[in-house]
Order: sequence, then C-alpha cells, then structure tokens
Amino acid sequence: MPLVYITRREHFNAAHKLWNPAWSEEKNFEVFGKCANVNWHGHNYELFVTVKGQPHPDTGCIIDLKLLSSIIKRRVIEELDHKNLNLDVPFLKGVMASTENLAVAIWQQLQEEVESHGCRLHSIRLHETENNSAEYFGE
Ligand code: NI
Repeated sequence: MPLVYITRREHFNAAHKLWNPAWSEEKNFEVFGKCANVNWHGHNYELFVTVKGQPHPDTGCIIDLKLLSSIIKRRVIEELDHKNLNLDVPFLKGVMASTENLAVAIWQQLQEEVESHGCRLHSIRLHETENNSAEYFGE
C-alpha cells in the first residue's frame, strides 16, 4: 500500500514581539532588533499541516480534508487569529513567540486529534513572512 503525504493550508494574522523578560531592554533590542518593538508588530502567517497515511480503499483519501481543516481551525486558528501571541494565547504561556516555537506548539495542539482519524501527523510548516519559515517534524 502506498504511503502518501497530503497538506492542508490555513491562514491567520497575529501580533507579537520577540522579547526575553529575563534580559535588559538593551539586550533585547541588541538581539532581536525591530522584532523587539515594544508596541508589537504583526504577521500574516501561512500554516501548512502535512499528514501521511495510506489512501482508504473506499474514498481514495488519507483523511477528509474538511475534517482536517475543521480540527486545525478549532484547535489552532481560532486560538491565534487576530490575537497577541505573547499575551492572549493559553497554550503559548511562557513560550517565546518565535516561528520555531509556534511550529512546535501547533504540532502539540494537533497531533492527538489528527492521529485519532487513522493517519499520522508528518510536519508543521509555518511561514511568518514570504522569506522566513520554520518546519517541525515532531522530533
Ligand atoms: Ni515578528
């Protein structure tokens, strides 16, 4: 049976800043530059969730993509969209709001429920800008 990977894209907008509260203001600006802007800045995030599995003989599908989309929307997008990632999101409490850490946190939000539908979560790819993205494979 072939193993196939399929990807669903979702989108959210959010504000954040990169700021380590253990450091002085000076060190935060030195390390993070504009990303440490005190009054926040925003991104149009593009999220790519890839699952893998064997197409079901009756449907030809690994997972119903409408179902995958609804899981992502409920567990991730509704939590993050139009929010301040540093202040508003319970599952990001105490997490530096970098693209890398967001990718890991999104994996943790999705894995159990996605994998209860007969496929495996393969990767979370999160684009913060056109040029910058992070990818997490659960390791
Ligand atoms: Ni940023």
